[in-house]
Amino acid sequence: MKTTAVFPGSFDPVTKGHLDVINRARLIFDRVIVLVLSNVDKRLLFSLDERVNMVSITVNELSNVSVDRYDGLLVEYIRSVNNAVIIKGIRSISDFQYEFEMASVNKMLDKQVETIFLPSYEGNRHISSSLVKHLLHYDGDISWLVSDKIKDMVKNKISKDYKV
Ligand code: PNS
Repeated sequence: MKTTAVFPGSFDPVTKGHLDVINRARLIFDRVIVLVLSNVDKRLLFSLDERVNMVSITVNELSNVSVDRYDGLLVEYIRSVNNAVIIKGIRSISDFQYEFEMASVNKMLDKQVETIFLPSYEGNRHISSSLVKHLLHYDGDISWLVSDKIKDMVKNKISKDYKV
């Protein structure tokens, strides 16, 4: 049986914390699909195309990793992939609370769907997409937060569309 992990998120933008989860998941599962979704609860800075593009550039050298997008319920997408589980990174207790609720909702929506959590370690615990946007607003260093491959794209977008 081939196993697939689907790593869903808004990736606004994708960070080194996300990349750590992807790299660890690709050692456990035959393949990893990074699924870029919209999150109706968040005001996103980057368009869906931009977020997919940044994830694709970030993971382009990882052999068993692919990128996809979906505009709908996560469980619908999971149903369309054979033997897929949802994988989520957990950085803190508050992450756990939020992700545990999402996993429970997804289970209510589809009993077949399983969610697996990977805990973040030391250096990655404080990394978040919001922190990237916050630091750039004040011209802070983001090289420890996002891949060098997308750093300039993120900076350009923020200086153009985010700063007041
Ligand atoms: O990176 P994020 O914003 O925390 O990811 C949240 C995301 C996009 C995975 C979540 O909002 C989601 O699954 N959206 C798709 C809609 C859905 O399936 N909602 C029901 C689960 S609560």
